[in-house]
Amino acid sequence: MRTQVGIIGAGPAGLLLSHLLHLRGIDSVVLERRSRDHVERRVRAGVLEQGTVETLVAAGVGDRLTREGLVHRGIELRYGGAGHRVAFERLVPGRAITVYGQQEVVKDLIAARLAAGGDVRFEVGDVAVNDAGTDRPHLTFGGERLDCDVIAGCDGFHGVSRASIPGDALTVYEREYPFAWLGVLARVEPSAEELIYAWTERGFALHSMRSPEISRFYLQVPAGEDIADWPDERIWAELRARLETVPGFTLATGEIVEKGVTPMRSFVAEPMRYGRLFLAGDAAHIVPPTGAKGLNLAVADVRVLTEALAHWYATGSADLLDAYSETCLKRVWRAQHFSWWMTTLLHTFETDDAYARRLQMSHLDYVTSSEAAAVTLAENYVGLPYERDLPDPAQTTPQAREVIE
Ligand code: FAD
Ligand code: PHB
Repeated sequence: MRTQVGIIGAGPAGLLLSHLLHLRGIDSVVLERRSRDHVERRVRAGVLEQGTVETLVAAGVGDRLTREGLVHRGIELRYGGAGHRVAFERLVPGRAITVYGQQEVVKDLIAARLAAGGDVRFEVGDVAVNDAGTDRPHLTFGGERLDCDVIAGCDGFHGVSRASIPGDALTVYEREYPFAWLGVLARVEPSAEELIYAWTERGFALHSMRSPEISRFYLQVPAGEDIADWPDERIWAELRARLETVPGFTLATGEIVEKGVTPMRSFVAEPMRYGRLFLAGDAAHIVPPTGAKGLNLAVADVRVLTEALAHWYATGSADLLDAYSETCLKRVWRAQHFSWWMTTLLHTFETDDAYARRLQMSHLDYVTSSEAAAVTLAENYVGLPYERDLPDPAQTTPQAREVIE
């Protein structure tokens, strides 16, 4: 078998890459370890940057997203007995985020690929990357061989792609946090119109949502916490203790339909390429979910990879492919910093002494009182412009160049 681009992983990165390549007339095969049902049910991210929404809509997979997605023009930071709104419409006019479950994005992309006759294979358990360092790379699985021009490693943090790269060809940057997030999906009307990021002495809590009937919550818990120790009543009691901290706010409760514990990690592997193997999304980098950046970064990576591959096929020039890693890493590191910043702003650290706690309160006060600090949060949260959308200094007037520089 042969294809142009062999893609490992049918998460948001792999599926969107396959779809965007198809729109450019480039063939791909997607190999996914889990079942279709499993990937369509996996509850994860929920916040889409404006650029992510625009990318999905422009690619023709935004109909349901536009209909069902909840557009939010602000978030609340809650601490010290008060809520403080970060108002995107004032701080970053015209920009917003959309709340729409990652598994809905995945469903929409799978439907689009299959409707277009795309080759997406599920339950392919033993994919191996071969000869990525040569110009004859190929994938093997279940006794079959798939020859490709290039391979896209979109198989998440625990996939085979990054692991197949010789250790001395990658540099890894990493931070582990001493806490995790316990995530809950509940059949209950959201108790607030916008997301609430809450700092308390008991730890961080987040009130998010999926629809007018479904709410999503997260609790900071110690790393390695066993979900079996969290019966539903304990979860609701803890959510109440951390969210019912402002006058007049009551948390509505309901049936918990899904719960799990996710470790918190910051991770980058550089470069995001080894020969003909290109890493995209969580396969190359992980951020703690506090900044809601992981899925959005995966989308940004595959935009860059699509352009680079289309340019290569159209002109024979590998310039953009050669720049792929460096181009992506600029945005990746901005998101790394923002996610780390939001995480340290909002979580309690056991190692914090009284001095560190005072600094954290001062930081929260600053972000909620200074326009400049709030703009910093808002512009990162809604998503900075993509590389290509930035004005090209070489093609602008001297006056504009002065502003850019
Ligand atoms: P994945 O979604 O991990 O997809 C990789 C795919 O590869 C999977 O389907 C996997 O089964 C498959 N695979 C793995 N190994 C193999 C193999 N050997 N062979 C074949 N297939 C394989 N991000 C946001 O932007 N906003 C948020 O609000 C947000 N909240 C989050 C909340 C939680 C609780 C979690 C866990 C994550 C959150 N994220 C968020 C992060 C986001 O979910 C990830 O960044 C995103 O899933 C990355 O997409 P991906 O396609 O790169 O990887
Ligand atoms: C979510 O709704 O799943 C969500 C929202 C905001 C985050 C992380 C996750 O920062």
